[in-house]
Amino acid sequence: MQNDFSALHQRVLVWYTQYGRHNLPWRQSNDAYAIWISEIMLQQTQVKTVLERFYFPFLETFPTLADLAAADLDDVLKKWEGLGYYTRARNLHKTALTCKDKLPLSVHELMALPGIGKSTAHAIAAFAYKTPVPILDANVKRILCRYFALKIPSEKLLWEYAERLFDFAHPFEYNQAMMDIGATLCQAKSPTCNTCPLQLTCKAAKSNPLHYPQPKAKKPVPIRKRTIVIYRHNGRYGLFQRQSRFLHGLWSFMEFDVTHAPTGKYLGEITQKYSHFHLHANVIFLEEAHENLEWFHYDEISTLALSGADSKIVSLIAQKLHNT
Ligand code: ADE
Repeated sequence: MQNDFSALHQRVLVWYTQYGRHNLPWRQSNDAYAIWISEIMLQQTQVKTVLERFYFPFLETFPTLADLAAADLDDVLKKWEGLGYYTRARNLHKTALTCKDKLPLSVHELMALPGIGKSTAHAIAAFAYKTPVPILDANVKRILCRYFALKIPSEKLLWEYAERLFDFAHPFEYNQAMMDIGATLCQAKSPTCNTCPLQLTCKAAKSNPLHYPQPKAKKPVPIRKRTIVIYRHNGRYGLFQRQSRFLHGLWSFMEFDVTHAPTGKYLGEITQKYSHFHLHANVIFLEEAHENLEWFHYDEISTLALSGADSKIVSLIAQKLHNT
């Protein structure tokens, strides 16, 4: 497919050659499996965190799709501990079980897999197979809104613009460059247009980039107050494995509505931010049993996959009950 952006494509390519983040490890691989893992991790987590703490350990533990398929979900969740948005880990495991040895080649088949939306399918296809398809993550959306001066575009319209601006001859470089331009130049709050390869023909650069897309009024996030109870019985701690959708599969200490909580020795408070609420919990300790819990020695707790909030509770136990 041809479009009228060849001069712009040339500038983007030159910029990418000079300033692109070429040493990101998933850019130096054409293993669809490793690229898929990176894309899923990067959906909701920053490059720095993925790079420093999660990408390599995950691939060391599960080096191939077959290894991931053969693993227990509990072990996959444990490896995902601290990354958040655990549905991603459950979907990785489901997809591995579905595909067995190899991820499919076509965008259409990739999109049919759990946890792989259109942009992720395009990213895997463009990066692993050099398929000429554009990606549309948050960075690319912001660039398109500014380049074409779009205030509140629909998803459908953004895909049309993504196709229109796309460099079909260089799917890998163009898509990676767009992500880098979004991350390093066309930033949400502090765009630096003067070094941007799109500046010459960018509509927003001529007016005010901060007006595109139209800033959204931020909804306040509700605070959820809870009491978390650490039960200990015969020297072992009581936890349960979550079955509800939220944090499904992770292990937790008992949690009560503050008005229905038992009383016990106060150990401290923890807070944890989630996308749809902020948890504020006071933590108490009770030396007794409670129904529906499984019992673990202190040293065993660290082998379970815990949420961020529950990891903070383990730190409280270490400080207040084990004096470490
Ligand atoms: N975010 C999603 N995919 C990425 C990639 N390939 N490089 C950098 N950040 C990304």
